[in-house]
Amino acid sequence: MSTPSQVSRQTLPEGEIASAKPRAGDPKPEVMQLPINTQRLTDTARTLVAADKGLLAMDESNPTCDKRFAKVGIPQTVEARRAYRELIITTPGLGESISGVILYDETIRQQKKDGTPFVKVITDAGIIPGIKVDTGAKCLAGHPGEKVTEGLDGLRDRLAEYSHMGARFAKWRAVIALGDGIPSRGCIEANAQALARYAALCQEAGMVPVVEPEVLMDGEHTLERCGEVTEEVLRSVFNQLYVQRVMLGGMILKPNMVLPGLSCPKQETVDEVADATVRCLLRAVPAAVPGIAFLSGGQSGELASARLNAMNVRFKSRLPWAVAFSFARAIQRPALEIWRGNESQVSAAQQALYHRAKCNAAARRGTYDAAMETDRPASPEHPMEIEHAPEIHNR
Ligand code: 13P
Repeated sequence: MSTPSQVSRQTLPEGEIASAKPRAGDPKPEVMQLPINTQRLTDTARTLVAADKGLLAMDESNPTCDKRFAKVGIPQTVEARRAYRELIITTPGLGESISGVILYDETIRQQKKDGTPFVKVITDAGIIPGIKVDTGAKCLAGHPGEKVTEGLDGLRDRLAEYSHMGARFAKWRAVIALGDGIPSRGCIEANAQALARYAALCQEAGMVPVVEPEVLMDGEHTLERCGEVTEEVLRSVFNQLYVQRVMLGGMILKPNMVLPGLSCPKQETVDEVADATVRCLLRAVPAAVPGIAFLSGGQSGELASARLNAMNVRFKSRLPWAVAFSFARAIQRPALEIWRGNESQVSAAQQALYHRAKCNAAARRGTYDAAMETDRPASPEHPMEIEHAPEIHNR
């Protein structure tokens, strides 16, 4: 019988099941690992970034979801969160622009009001269900102002359960803050190693890891500084992914765009951001990765679409990976503002969500235009503040 693979997964031909005899001196595994199905992983990863589609992150933790609800006067209850997530996944035509949705532990277990499980609604819409599996960013000992993301304990079992429930990919977010003397090497390496260990466990479970190292926008730092740190973080992440034998063809990278800090006096143009972001990624992301799906990080929906569009207009034909999106706020925000917990607003909120998803699919093609924003549904009377507060805690 074949035993756990100790060979580098990167060296296996596509489509081959990793399975090799142990070498002399290999430690005896305590848990029998499953062979890695590279074909399934590469198929899922490619599908997630195919056909100009992208991901919709709807995996806000309960505290974050409640915080956003409180801002617009929605009750912070299980039922309100369920109704909101039902609104999102039943949006007519969502699958035209969205390839996968990222769920939260509470959400993946929920059903529509008529009893249909959310996972069935999502798959029936031609969308792949995914799940956030980290348990949040916690203070890193000895590193004031810095965080490390936790969630590795028991992860193998949780992944098995989520896979059984129908999830085909998973997400883990690490947060890197910029400031005086930070980020430290210790913070970058601790987060990179956790991301790599999570990614390896995902692939063992047959789920595509969405690897999310987020350099935060908060602060006075320049675009150049964000670029330097993002490059350092990505190099560290890919080094650890290599050490942990993660198959790059079966993962998605979810990075931040290279942006000036929110309080930096100099705010670069859309094209300058696109150039700096692509330059940084070309230096640090191996060509074997099938897709890069950006987080939005607190940018407005319009700006996130415009910057994604500029990257595809200027560089698409020359890039080894698909340049896509995995936005939460930049897709959901207008819909939440319109809905506000009001049943009569469900359809208008869904139109707003559909519109933002469409704009981002256009941005992938390089055909997004500010004129697309003029036929969107009417704005609410009191638009929600743009949420730029540091979201370093559990999302
Ligand atoms: P934002 O697009 O709102 O940054 O969220 C993406 C995400 O998934 C955060 O983990």
